[in-house]
Amino acid sequence: MGKYDKNIQELLNVSEQINHIKDIDALLDRVLFEARIFTHSDAGSIYLMEGNRLKFRYVQNDSLFKGKKTSNKYLYTSHELEINEKSLAGYVVMTGKPLNIDDVYKIPTEHPYSFNISFDEQTSYRSKSILTIPLKTSQGTMVGILQIINRLDSRNQATSFSKEDELFVNHFANHAAVAIERAQITREIILRMINMAELRDPKETGAHVNRVGAYSIEMYQEWARNQGISEQEIKKFRDNLRIAAMLHDVGKVAISDTILKKPGKLDEQEFATMKLHCVMGARLFKNSSSEMDTMAAEVCLNHHERWDGAGYPGKIKGEEVPLTGRITALADVYDALISKRVYKDAWQEEDVLKYIQEQSGKQFDPGVIESFFSIYDVIKAIREKYIE
Ligand SMILES: [Fe+2]
Ligand SMILES: [Fe+2]
Repeated sequence: MGKYDKNIQELLNVSEQINHIKDIDALLDRVLFEARIFTHSDAGSIYLMEGNRLKFRYVQNDSLFKGKKTSNKYLYTSHELEINEKSLAGYVVMTGKPLNIDDVYKIPTEHPYSFNISFDEQTSYRSKSILTIPLKTSQGTMVGILQIINRLDSRNQATSFSKEDELFVNHFANHAAVAIERAQITREIILRMINMAELRDPKETGAHVNRVGAYSIEMYQEWARNQGISEQEIKKFRDNLRIAAMLHDVGKVAISDTILKKPGKLDEQEFATMKLHCVMGARLFKNSSSEMDTMAAEVCLNHHERWDGAGYPGKIKGEEVPLTGRITALADVYDALISKRVYKDAWQEEDVLKYIQEQSGKQFDPGVIESFFSIYDVIKAIREKYIE
């Protein structure tokens, strides 16, 4: 088999695999990773179309981030571009064609586009060769752009992208765009399910569930790495956990308005009814056919259990509580305390952190708390990204 045929075979394999990734962020991670492997490049990012703007959605950078615990905070950067010919990304969306530049610091001034050096300036990174590829489905829908940065030669020096790189990444991007479009639809459906629960219980906002999903996967990743779990297993688990964690309170759709919307404290009877949202949520995913549904049922059922056994509904304790329940319990409570809600003001950050520390071994798993604190920079970046 020639090198070209081997590459085509690989491209087909990877394209097939990405079709099985349900979560949009997990998918972007994989798409960017594979495009970088194909081209042997150091870094890259993805921007997706949102209305008439391009929104930054994903970044990888081996030389800046590798082995750094809190580098994931860059994933939660909010940054967006207008779609016009002035930026590389905007130009590619406008023309629908790839742009292959040998050195972005030497773009002749007569070109309409120029390179935005702000990320380089913040991080002291030096971007040189950049390949920008449209993420366009076979139906012609533009979902965003894929940007691959600094192809590395055998001495790890940045070199230019070849015509072949351009061809392969462009072809891969077609498959990726279709998968991204599908994952975006899945995410929208889930957010709609959550909106339904939110109509019933105004405490469960879209921003709250996005934050709980993101905190949960970041805590899990840190926890799992400390346990020596393989990166492949971590990625798979993360893919399901984000969505499952977002759905933690979806069982509230089954609880009556008089209880959900009651101002002031619930009496004993009402509180007992409220507690049923755990079981009701798990019931929504009964007869589940996918790992994601199984995990969603597990989170719904266990997110109010406590490490010391004083939680509900199962009154199980310690490691009897599934890991997903132990993680989402902390994510949910942290977010509830630190956010302002209709019935309460936000707690001061230091009081929240003190409370969590005190609840180690009581309400929360000490191991999960440790992971939470060691990535606290990432937790804060998530809070800044998903504001009400
Ligand atoms: Fe809950
Ligand atoms: Fe919640």
